[in-house]
This record gives sequence, C-alpha cells and structure tokens, in this order.
Amino acid sequence: MTAPTPLIAGNWKMNGLAAALGEARAVAAGLGQVPGRVALCPPATLVDRMRQALAGTAVALGGQDCRAEDNGAFTGDVSAAMLADAGASLVILGHSERRAGYGETDALVAAKVVAALSAGLEPIVCVGETLEQRKAGEALAVVTGQVRGSLPAALAGKAFAVAYEPVWAIGTGLTPTTPEIEEVHKAIRATLVEQFGAEGAKVPILYGGSVKPSNAAEILHAAEVGGALVGGASLKAADFLGIIGAL
Ligand code: 13P
Repeated sequence: MTAPTPLIAGNWKMNGLAAALGEARAVAAGLGQVPGRVALCPPATLVDRMRQALAGTAVALGGQDCRAEDNGAFTGDVSAAMLADAGASLVILGHSERRAGYGETDALVAAKVVAALSAGLEPIVCVGETLEQRKAGEALAVVTGQVRGSLPAALAGKAFAVAYEPVWAIGTGLTPTTPEIEEVHKAIRATLVEQFGAEGAKVPILYGGSVKPSNAAEILHAAEVGGALVGGASLKAADFLGIIGAL
C-alpha cells in the first residue's frame, strides 16, 4: 500500500489583513521541491486575494469552515460553493474552536462535509480530545468516536484528510509525546479502514497543535503522521517554510 501524499496546511484562523498576503507570496517563493502538498487557509475575506497572489504557484487554498446549506438567510455565514468560487480547493471542518465555541456536533460536521464535497472541496476534518478527556483515559474513544460521527459515507472514493488536534496542544506550546501521537494516529487509521476499506489506508492523517520548525521533523516522521495542520507558525513564511522543509 502506498503511503498517503503528505499535506501541510496553514490555518490562519482569524488573523490576516491585506498586508499579510506578502507572507503567502513568500511561502510560495520559498518552496523548493516538496515531497507533498502545501496549502494555506486564510480568513474568508482573503481567499480571493490570496488566489490572485498565489496564481501559478504550488500553494493550494482552503477555507476554515463552511455552512452546511448552499445559500439562504444565514447572516454572516459562508457556503462551500462560495469558498470554491473564491478559489479554495480545501476546507477545514470541525475544528475544536468551532466544536467548542459554536457547539458543532459530529452530525453537523458530517453535514458540512457533504456540502463541501458537493462544492468540489476537499475536507480536512479535525478531531481531538480535551485535557480532561485525556486524563480520564478517554482520548482514543473520543477521537475514534469523532472520526466515526464526522465522516459520512459520502466520502467514499473522495479526497479528504483527517487532522488530529489535541485541544490541549493548540496554541499552548505543549505537544503530545511521539508515542502518544502515534497511538492516536494508529487508532484513527484503523477506524478509517473500518469505515472505508482499503481507501481508508490512503487518507492523510495530519497532526496539529503547536507544530513549529523545531519539532516538525520528529512529528512529521512519526508513524501514521501524513502531514500537519499548523496554526500560529503558519503566519510567518519563515516558520511555515521551516516546517515544510522538515517533510
Ligand atoms: P497552533 O499551531 O497555533 O497550536 O494551532 C493548531 C491549530 O489549531 C491548527 O488548526
């Protein structure tokens, strides 16, 4: 079985004004031969301008969330078709900041995945346990439960990625040990194979949570780690390139 093509995606979260497009250009300009794919997921307001800034480069674009509906009276929300229309080819779904901050359930995330697929977007579906859940020995059960609940059958035959982001490692500078990462990624892999058969073996499983240039090589080379979802360190081209260079 060939290993999944790795993906390194930068999640800018609610950061980035027009001036930050220079960082995106610097990422594109600094990419050498990368043994994988690279994407940036800026706020929705920058997707179209980043598409223009990155035209003709190897950096793909993603959104950070979308509504499950195609259009309608949903003030402030963005649909998958709108992201695709603005130039995105990927979308992050089920990030813990949305699960916790907006009460997003596995079922809602699964509905958003279906919407993303119908707009031609590749979903990056996030899962991860809280510190309390890890301390209670529930990490594997929580994460595999989220995988089962958030990945609809409609994903069969489609390109998608799963991102393991332990909530307690996001933006904290803390990271799980390599054996802890491998334990969870192997459990996610087994669940993917259970759900999608042989295709489940080809889905990249990204790690996210305080990835930086100094820890990227160890994390990216851990068993069943197929790339990274990078928050803070993706805002600066030099740091993001340092992580990509560790692939
Ligand atoms: P940090 O890399 O800032 O910890 O964020 C991780 C994350 O949430 C990416 O989606």
